[in-house]
Amino acid sequence: MKLEKSTLEIVLERPVKLLHVTDTHLTLVDERDNERKHALAKRLRDPDKEKYLCEQLDYARENCDLLVHTGDLMDFVSHANVEKAREVVSDEKVFFIAGNHDYSQYVGEAWEDKAYRMNSYMEIERMGGLGVPMLFNSRVAGGVNIVGIDNSYYLFEDWQIVRLKKEVEKGLPVILTFHDPLFEQSLYDYHYEHSPEDCTYIVGCDEEHLLRYSEFRAYQQRPDEPTLRMIDYIKSEPLIKAILTGHLHFSFESRLTPTLTQYVTGGAYDGTCRELTIV
Ligand SMILES: [Fe+2]
Repeated sequence: MKLEKSTLEIVLERPVKLLHVTDTHLTLVDERDNERKHALAKRLRDPDKEKYLCEQLDYARENCDLLVHTGDLMDFVSHANVEKAREVVSDEKVFFIAGNHDYSQYVGEAWEDKAYRMNSYMEIERMGGLGVPMLFNSRVAGGVNIVGIDNSYYLFEDWQIVRLKKEVEKGLPVILTFHDPLFEQSLYDYHYEHSPEDCTYIVGCDEEHLLRYSEFRAYQQRPDEPTLRMIDYIKSEPLIKAILTGHLHFSFESRLTPTLTQYVTGGAYDGTCRELTIV
């Protein structure tokens, strides 16, 4: 595995170590899954993904307070993937929040919105479920509150703002975790410099920054009112100290405000992970 190391200074009584893992993209299938899932698995399969996941779990058990997985643990919903994901996220050393692929049925076969997500969620439940909340999650580890919010379709919802405010009321420093990073100018520029695509896959781009996007991507990734309200709240709440995200498959670190750092961590499918020491 490829371990990157970062340190966040927020003045804790004792340090907390997190292993941030994201975008594993498991492609497991078995006899319970249909031919179309088997074809997908064949096309995307890479046994190293499971090997790296095992190494990351072992490393976190030995060296960290918690492994934080920010989604795309599964590449698509299958019986075998759900079973493996349940085994991983039920480990008491693992904290999980879902990404877009964790709801993907056949990878890009349909427009993905709240209805699509709910149908996939029900399918996952029918397969036995993951056993942890997928849309909003929280856990106190050491002296920090790890809060996970599902923003996998580039949007937040008002109920998630209410839940986040309740978490902040606990009075502990908050480490926010979600799949899709928030807009920040240097991240936007870096993305266009290094992967000249038709969009940047980040949340909260304003109309000026969406001008470079294709029409489809602008429609897909344009923030709505609740999303803008959430971003304003995150940036204005002093107890929110850092954000851990993935989705982009490269690593990047920048500040959203003078006191709020956003860490994007590269894809775990190639072994990348980040040890974040909070002191
Ligand atoms: Fe993703």
